[in-house]
Amino acid sequence: MSFKSSKIAIVGVGNVGATTAYTIINQGLCEEIVLIDVNKEKAVGEALDMQHSIFFMNRNINVHAGDYDECKDADIVIITASVPMDPNATNRLDMLSGSKRVMKSIISSIMGSGFNGILLVISNPVDVMTYYAWKLSGLPKNQVIGSGTTLDTARLAVEISNLFDLDSKSISAYVMGEHGDSEFVSWNTATIGGKRLIDVMNDNTERVNEESFDNLKEQTIKAGWEIFHRKGSTTYGIAASAAAIVKSILFNENKILPVSVYLEGEYGLDGVYLSAPTIINNTGAKEIVEINLAEDEKKAMDASNDIVKSFYEALND
Ligand code: 2OP
Repeated sequence: MSFKSSKIAIVGVGNVGATTAYTIINQGLCEEIVLIDVNKEKAVGEALDMQHSIFFMNRNINVHAGDYDECKDADIVIITASVPMDPNATNRLDMLSGSKRVMKSIISSIMGSGFNGILLVISNPVDVMTYYAWKLSGLPKNQVIGSGTTLDTARLAVEISNLFDLDSKSISAYVMGEHGDSEFVSWNTATIGGKRLIDVMNDNTERVNEESFDNLKEQTIKAGWEIFHRKGSTTYGIAASAAAIVKSILFNENKILPVSVYLEGEYGLDGVYLSAPTIINNTGAKEIVEINLAEDEKKAMDASNDIVKSFYEALND
C-alpha cells in the first residue's frame, strides 16, 4: 500500500504566508510545503530558514520554494497574496481592485498546472476574493473555501473568555457573514460550557451588562485593525486559523468551522460566498450547517450578502 503523502502550496510568502507555513510545520500537518511568490528570492530565503527549524520539529517536512507547476499534485493551495494594504485603510474591501488583479493571475497559473485540489483563500477582501477564485478556477464550490470569520470567531471567544476568566476553547459563539464591518455574532446559538451565553450574561450582571453584547462584537470587528495599526499586519491569528482549516481537510476531521463558503439556498441566500458554520473534511466544504439565527441575526446575514454582492459587478471588468 503506497502512502499518500500530503502536499500544500502557499502562494504569497509575505507575513501571512510565511507564518502560515511555519504554523503548519510546527503542527506537522503535511509532508511537503511549496512556497510560491513573485519575489522568488524571498520564497527561497523563507524556505531555507524554515528548513533549519525542522531539525527541532516533531516530524520531517520537505519545505522548498517552487513555481506554479508544483501545484499540480498539491492537496491544498493556500492563497495569501494581495496588494499591500494602505496603512490608513479602514476597510478590507478597499483592497479589491489590487487584489482582483493579483488573484486573476494567480488562479490562471494554479489551474494551468492541472490542480484539482482544495483552494483556501485568505487574501482580502476574503469573501469577494473567494467568490472570484471559485468563478475563475471552475472548481466545484466545495473545493473553494475562504478563511472567512474563522479568525473573528476565535477573536470573539478570546474577548468573552477574558470577561469570565475561562479557556477560550470553552466558548462556542459563531461570528458569521462578511469577514469585515458587517459581520455579526449569533448570540442566539452561543453557549459557554453547554449553557446559553445569553443566560450566562443575564446571570452575571455584576460583571457584564446589556451593552456587553455590542461591545464584544465591536471589539471583535476592531481586533484586526488594533493589530494592523500597531504592527502593519496580522499574522499569528490568521495563520492558526488557516492551519485549523488545513488540519480538518488533511486529517478528514469533519470539524465545524465558520469558513467562507458558497451559499446556494442556505440561510435563504444564493450565489454568494459568506461565512457560516461548515463541516470541513477531505472533500473541502462537506456541508453547511444552518444554525437557528434570531430574526436580527438573519437580517445581519442578509446585510452581509448585500454588501459583499455589491462588489461582484467590479469583478467583471
Ligand atoms: C485579519 O482580520 C488578515 O483579515 C485578516 O487579521
